[in-house]
Amino acid sequence: MSFPYKHVLLIGATAGIGRAMADRFIETGIKVTAVGRRQERLDEFVRKHGEDKASGVAFDISGISKTPAFAESVMKSYPGIDCLFLNAGIQNAYDLSDPATFDLERFQNETHVNYISLVALVHAFLPVFREKDTPTSIIFTGTNIAIIPAATLPAYCGSKAALNVFTLCLRENLGNTKIKIIEISPPPVQTELHDYMGESGRSFGMPVDQFTDAAHRGLLEGKDQIVIGAVGPAETFNEIVEKRRDAFENFAKLMRSAH
Ligand SMILES: NC(=O)c1ccc[n+]([C@@H]2O[C@H](COP(=O)([O-])OP(=O)(O)OC[C@H]3O[C@@H](n4cnc5c(N)ncnc54)[C@H](OP(=O)(O)O)[C@@H]3O)[C@@H](O)[C@H]2O)c1
Repeated sequence: MSFPYKHVLLIGATAGIGRAMADRFIETGIKVTAVGRRQERLDEFVRKHGEDKASGVAFDISGISKTPAFAESVMKSYPGIDCLFLNAGIQNAYDLSDPATFDLERFQNETHVNYISLVALVHAFLPVFREKDTPTSIIFTGTNIAIIPAATLPAYCGSKAALNVFTLCLRENLGNTKIKIIEISPPPVQTELHDYMGESGRSFGMPVDQFTDAAHRGLLEGKDQIVIGAVGPAETFNEIVEKRRDAFENFAKLMRSAH
């Protein structure tokens, strides 16, 4: 099998997983329009691969009132985009017992970036994708700790759990369309995400190349749920993920037949 999409709009492509996946797509003949806030990194990406294969658009996804104009402008400049890869995310640790670190504004911003900003992007791009005659896809980067949360990361795990629920519902809602909904669920990966941990942050987890190989393989195999690694014993974790999805799909079927 191959990855059937020709031009990926990769949101959160200036670092870590997004940048590695963007490089991999281009190496395998797929165009990438990279998005993130850091213009200098977007420029470097385009310089590395050339303007015929790579492009960059700076955008802060948290400004959701600007998302519709962003979508319109991007699709006007790059009408061939047929895959929206929603990868941007942030992570902070909280000690909920300590009022000094339980910062409500930070908590709210993290939830907004990791969840609502991505819903806003789906909302803005869906009408365009629905009009396309060729297959399209929306890829989400979730996390294994959306399923079994890490106690120190309540905003992160809560927002990713919400994103996981949205992904399941979106896939079900779009069942009769040509839009494929794919979720990638990573384990800890060595990226800038953990910079709040200090020096040890960038060496925490799986090397990004190893992760990229596994995620890319899952995409080539045509999977719509790519779970890499596990929280706790893999057998138990995978059983929870699979049984929950089965239960969700059975429930959705029941609800459809009731209407
Ligand atoms: N690394 C892990 O252990 C791990 C595990 C599970 C899941 N994930 C998920 O994988 C995804 C990528 O994370 P990563 O580990 O590669 O982290 P990373 O190296 O910190 O990269 C995060 C990316 O998100 C972008 N981003 C963040 N806030 C943004 C905003 N407001 N507007 C636009 N872009 C924004 C960043 O770009 P700018 O800063 O340039 O805006 C950057 O490109 C995230 O969704 C994360 O939750 C990571």
